Amino acid sequence: MARFTALSALLLLPVITAEILTPPYFNLATGKKITATATCGDEGPELYCKLVGANADHDERVIQGQVCDICNMTNDAKKHPPEYAVDGMETWWQSPPLSRGMKYNEVNLTIDLGQIIVKCRIEM
Ligand SMILES: *[C@@H]1O[C@H](CO)[C@@H](O)[C@H](O)[C@H]1NC(C)=O
Ligand SMILES: *[C@@H]1O[C@H](CO)[C@@H](O)[C@H](O)[C@H]1NC(C)=O
Repeated sequence: MARFTALSALLLLPVITAEILTPPYFNLATGKKITATATCGDEGPELYCKLVGANADHDERVIQGQVCDICNMTNDAKKHPPEYAVDGMETWWQSPPLSRGMKYNEVNLTIDLGQIIVKCRIEM
């Protein structure tokens, strides 16, 4: 959850800001090559949870104040690959749940902007 927040600040905020600010403000990362050291669902379907408040889809379940769903890479509606962090749409990248293992408290997300490579280190 904390990781999701960190990612929002780093990548999604520029998109959100674009709708609020009047001067042109575009997301430099849109459509750029992006990789993550680990992604929710990349080792098979798994449950993840995030804080309620963001968009809760109709089929997501609320468990102890958190919205939970399954990451499923073979299901277009349930996958959250790194590309989704920079597609300029409302889809998102989901880091692996900590239930998979404590080593996933750190995930690196790397965006190749061409001449600049942005590396985000996301820690829980
Ligand atoms: C993952 O998605 C596939 C394709 O839609 C589906 O057959 C499978 O049951 C899903 N797995 C889980 C655990 O939801
Ligand atoms: C993330 O990047 C940092 C800095 O390059 C590196 O020290 C660390 O091992 C990387 N972590 C993972 C999970 O790849």
